[in-house]
Amino acid sequence: MYAQDAPPKKGGGGMPHKNLKILPDEDIMGVMRSYTAALGVGRNCVFCHVQGDFAADTNPKKDVARKMIKMVNDNNAVFADGKVHVTCYTCHRGKTMPETVPPPAAPGQ
Ligand code: HEC
Ligand code: HEC
Repeated sequence: MYAQDAPPKKGGGGMPHKNLKILPDEDIMGVMRSYTAALGVGRNCVFCHVQGDFAADTNPKKDVARKMIKMVNDNNAVFADGKVHVTCYTCHRGKTMPETVPPPAAPGQ
């Protein structure tokens, strides 16, 4: 889910969220699952959060993630069709630290 998408629908089913600075309050759990999958952290929500308080900004990775969300939104704004072209997975590919160089070619390739 990206900031340029449909306007937020507050409280759709659950409690409204308390500390969203970028994301619309819409399908937060689906968005969060896309992050854990993109970074390959399994169900480890505390990679970016602290146990028991998802609204807290105590874990510095959460603010890194906010910068990443802005970067991805900026990337998608480059495309005229308004569709999502770039996601967390585009770079992360199931790793917390994206690779900057391709792996060495296997012998004989
Ligand atoms: C890669 C980092 C990352 C991971 C992993 C992650 N989150 Fe988040 N989460 C965020 C960020 C960043 C925000 C705040 C977004 C904003 O400010 O708009 C957030 C916000 C939330 C909120 C809203 C809290 C509030 O009241 O403001 C909930 C609930 C939440 N996450 C649950 C989860 C759950 C459950 C998981 C595991 C399945 C998870 N998150 C995994 C980065 C992450
Ligand atoms: C254009 C490529 C790119 C995209 C897209 C991207 N990231 Fe990243 N991300 C990086 C790079 C590169 C790093 C490592 C930065 C460094 O060297 O410290 C990183 C690091 C992170 C980290 C810190 C990891 C750690 O171990 O400290 C988090 C959290 C993160 N990204 C979340 C996200 C989320 C969430 C999204 C999608 C909203 C996203 N990223 C999209 C390139 C990207």
